Amino acid sequence: MKIILKIQRFNPETDDAPVFQEYTVDADPTDRLLDALIQVKQYQDGTLGFRKSCAHGICGSDAMRINGKDGLACKTLVKDVADQDGAVVEISPLRHLPVQRDLIVDQGKFFKQFRSVKPYLINDEQVPEKERLQSPEQRQAFDDATNCILCASCYSACPIPEDRPDFLGPAALVQGFRFIADSRDNGFKDRLPQLDHPDGVWACKNHFECTKACPRQIKITKRINQTKQRIK
Ligand code: SF4
Ligand code: FES
Repeated sequence: MKIILKIQRFNPETDDAPVFQEYTVDADPTDRLLDALIQVKQYQDGTLGFRKSCAHGICGSDAMRINGKDGLACKTLVKDVADQDGAVVEISPLRHLPVQRDLIVDQGKFFKQFRSVKPYLINDEQVPEKERLQSPEQRQAFDDATNCILCASCYSACPIPEDRPDFLGPAALVQGFRFIADSRDNGFKDRLPQLDHPDGVWACKNHFECTKACPRQIKITKRINQTKQRIK
């Protein structure tokens, strides 16, 4: 089948505003959208900018907005977004982050927010002879939150940063939860200034858009609400 990729193009160094450019691509319904983008880049327009690395949903680098929904191009099949020959698939960069070029956004702010919740184990106590033990139930309490690949799909899907640009965002809050829910961690109070803040968990209004967008099926909204309960 043929599909039309309608891709947002923008070079902040030379362009006044983004414009959409269309490319017609031959694709099988079971091809991944990333394959179609690579086809454009290799055979039609080498100037197209987008990120990708693993091509298997692991590195998180090819998150973008596809027909208005955030997700990974490598985990999106053509048949998921194009139901017939000649279908148009609109692709634009993630929201709330500055565009560096076409579909490439500057993730600096996103990673700064992630680091602000201290996403590492905090425990000054002497380590037991072998290791800090944890039961399967204790591990299960935060298991899904360990699967984050920092793709920023959730951050783009969330409507809150439109009005609150300093909102920590779903991914950072999930990481905060991941550690405060870990039975081996003692850093709850260290993370409170970031989490218990108007731009922390309290800015979340339970839109659930992050949870719907997450390609790793992390129960983001639930984890944010659990963090609110813990703080209370
Ligand atoms: S929580 Fe999900 S959507 Fe958000 S950055 Fe992590 S993997 Fe991506
Ligand atoms: S290219 Fe790595 S997650 Fe898609």
